Amino acid sequence: MPPDTAMPLLGGLSAADFMSVHWQKRPLFVPGAVPQAAGVIDVETLFDLAQHPEAQTRRIACKADAWTVDPGPLRARQLAAKGRWTVLVQGINHFLPEADALLRRFAFIPYTRLDDVMASYATPGGGVGPHYDSYDVFLIQAHGIRRWQISGQPDRELLPDQPLKLMADFRPEQTFECKPGDLLYLPPGYAHDGVAVDDCITLSVGFRAPSHAELGREFLFWLADRIDLPGLYADPDLLPTSEPSRVDAGMVRRVATVLQGIRWDDDAVAGFLCQYLSEPKPHVVFDPPEDPLGAAAFARDAQRHGVALDLQTLMLHDGVQVFCNGEPLAVPVALLPALCRLADRRFLEGADLVRALTDCIYPLYLAGHLHLAEPGP
Ligand code: SIN
Ligand code: CO
Repeated sequence: MPPDTAMPLLGGLSAADFMSVHWQKRPLFVPGAVPQAAGVIDVETLFDLAQHPEAQTRRIACKADAWTVDPGPLRARQLAAKGRWTVLVQGINHFLPEADALLRRFAFIPYTRLDDVMASYATPGGGVGPHYDSYDVFLIQAHGIRRWQISGQPDRELLPDQPLKLMADFRPEQTFECKPGDLLYLPPGYAHDGVAVDDCITLSVGFRAPSHAELGREFLFWLADRIDLPGLYADPDLLPTSEPSRVDAGMVRRVATVLQGIRWDDDAVAGFLCQYLSEPKPHVVFDPPEDPLGAAAFARDAQRHGVALDLQTLMLHDGVQVFCNGEPLAVPVALLPALCRLADRRFLEGADLVRALTDCIYPLYLAGHLHLAEPGP
């Protein structure tokens, strides 16, 4: 979609206008932005996921102003309790194609920044209390009504000794009664408090923004395997010492000079980002096919039906190299455009799948990172 096309998802703004006016800057409320939101998940499915060992779940309750946080997987009785509580399940797009489809509606923002879809169920009065998040978020109401109060207050002081981040002095500036399909975008650091008016489910499309410290640390790990510093330490000008335990200034200077020879350029940073940002989160497990097809049969079926990336797969490219779940793909130059299309659209039709390409993606099929598309009706 061209960046200047008006998008109902953004209340008629184009992606370009949204990015320049709202993204990381100011909130946006769009009534009826996502009419399909109710179809993403229902209470039964959310409760099933909350009891699933592979889902990342938290239950937050508030009784007489005392907050408690319990990690998942939850037991059925925790989901049947009376009172004010909420259950939050992270990464539902890894389990539900409908949630993945919702995430992909935000593909005008690069996949390097898109994180996941979280679903929360809350009993009337339930919520996670007034807080702010470090990341941008689109809050989309799926079922029931939630009253959001938001504030651009600079004061971010938190209450001490609480099991979750709660603001000490939340001063709401705006209130939105969100009904199914409504969307509220909040930039990082914007204070908010969402309280369920009735039993409700809210979806959060969340983003990732690595800290500078994380980027620095991970880049240096990456660089460690690629350092090209020939030669051996040498000190023909060494003088005799009376303090043999001292690391002397001469050695420090010589080594500092050697280390200044460690160089990298933008291509190296691009390679690092492709690898690091496509690495799956530690809890992610792929299911390889139990009885895999041979390469020729895979090629035949792929050409008939197409292929789709697994819901958990992260595939990134910089136009030159393609990484799938943290691993580089050996891609002949002629196949690059098709593989970049697979990374962008997350599926390829059979007509795109020449034999050299099916050979290139066959290892991804064997690892469960990619599947044959379902035959049509
Ligand atoms: C929720 O869905 O209850 C919490 C979402 C948020 O405040 O970021
Ligand atoms: Co929040």
